[in-house]
Amino acid sequence: MCARWIPLVIFMVVIACNSETRSKEGIEVATTKTYQELHRPQYHFTPDSGWMNDPNGLVYNDGVYHLFYQYYPHATVWGPMHWGHAVSTDMVRWEHKPIALFPDGKGLVFSGSAVVDKNNTSGFGMDGKVPLVAIFTYHNMQGEKSGGNTFQTQGIAYSLDNGDTWKKYDGNPVIGNTGIRDLRDPKVFWHKDSQSWIMVLVAGDFVKLYRSKNLKEWDNISDFGKNQGAKGGVWECPDLFKMKVEGSEEEKWVLIISIGNGAPNGGSGTQYFVGDFDGTTFTSKQMDYKWLDWGTDNYAGVTYNNTPNGERLFIGWMSNWQYALNTPATTWRSAMTLPRKLSLKKSNDAYVLYNYPLSSVDDLMATSKGETVSIPAGEAHETSNPLLGESNISFSVPAKDFKLTFSNLAGEKTVLILDSASSLLMLDRTSSGTRDFNYEFGNKLHYAALKEVSDNLGFSIYLDRSSIEVFVNGGQYAMTDQLFPSQPYTQLSIENLSSNDFQIRDLKINAMQSVWKSN
Ligand code: FRU
Repeated sequence: MCARWIPLVIFMVVIACNSETRSKEGIEVATTKTYQELHRPQYHFTPDSGWMNDPNGLVYNDGVYHLFYQYYPHATVWGPMHWGHAVSTDMVRWEHKPIALFPDGKGLVFSGSAVVDKNNTSGFGMDGKVPLVAIFTYHNMQGEKSGGNTFQTQGIAYSLDNGDTWKKYDGNPVIGNTGIRDLRDPKVFWHKDSQSWIMVLVAGDFVKLYRSKNLKEWDNISDFGKNQGAKGGVWECPDLFKMKVEGSEEEKWVLIISIGNGAPNGGSGTQYFVGDFDGTTFTSKQMDYKWLDWGTDNYAGVTYNNTPNGERLFIGWMSNWQYALNTPATTWRSAMTLPRKLSLKKSNDAYVLYNYPLSSVDDLMATSKGETVSIPAGEAHETSNPLLGESNISFSVPAKDFKLTFSNLAGEKTVLILDSASSLLMLDRTSSGTRDFNYEFGNKLHYAALKEVSDNLGFSIYLDRSSIEVFVNGGQYAMTDQLFPSQPYTQLSIENLSSNDFQIRDLKINAMQSVWKSN
């Protein structure tokens, strides 16, 4: 994975011509676009042009949700990282904004978070203006090239105009590095009980927790995960937050960790731990590995700070480092997942983190009445719909063997199979469309190991030109995969593979409105 950090010949040139004074330079606003390329998602966030990876600085402030993101504007592959920027009032319709943070002499601007410093603890506030403070990782290319291990440090920047313009702190870095090669992706939040800022930072394959009173001076207060969790690759993009267990007064803390390699279906993925945080130490008794999403394309996801009702709202990057640089692209590359709300539920003493699209996503849906369809054993229900490739398909089905196939007239198909004997839900994109750009893409079935499922399963599936997001039982399980069909899917088949007749209830296929066309 480090191959993507190979210094580009043009790096110094880029640094020289990208100063923060250019941050006002406009990227064309998305609302003037219709974005009609074959693979351009119609209701997912994509960069207008250039390369995008992780969501960064997710914060709500003054009526808008900010989405900053790892961005390289000069090519469709990873390069010297900037923070791109977009804003939205509903997390679905986004307006592109000028680049927020540019690389500088201290390094590239890697992933991180943003907070609203309401009490002006940092002292950056002026004339009553509340500062937005971004906390990010500096990645120093020269430092990496010279073979040391101290090239990742943490910096901060602030904005007094709700994210439009930024100034980096003169005292950067605020956390130096004494020799941990992968020390990055700070997630900072306000911890009410201790009246301090807490930072969770990855350090190789564990996390370090820090505390600060002013966002400038940080103390390392504890470490977590040296002997816990999946370790297939470096840990990246941590997040730590408190959640109420639904239907009870119990509160638990959830730690989200992306891992660069070793996810259940290959490559990058996102694991989580449920435990407790006492203001200093995070502990978890969890022995098993828990995955936020079983698909291959939900990585580096984190949640919003400062949401209006304290809801945990999540966005992930819809790709995988195994093939992210090779997916079919024109002038832009990569999309974000749908914005999802997280909730924590407990069943038989096991905690499960649910994730499910926000209701603002469903506002884009045409509404139709659901139909009940009886499917005899061994037979299939077939339907065709020209808008299938940009729609939501929902239904409930007995937890019996079935196969759902989305296909197009070119014979390409994406298949979802439930095998009740093994309790596996399988997503097959091996014939979904273009896949020869990378061996790892589409070379095998992806599975979700279902546990604790009811006799009846509720499905909600979102297709958007180059992705599928499958949600089971309101987000108990999620599977997110990219797909690159050469023409839109228009045919749906639901086949009863069990030995008994069954009914699909409340079957709906609803076209999703494009957030670009409608503007
Ligand atoms: C995750 C990641 C982060 C890093 C960023 C660099 O995808 O590797 O750990 O900050 O991407 O773009």
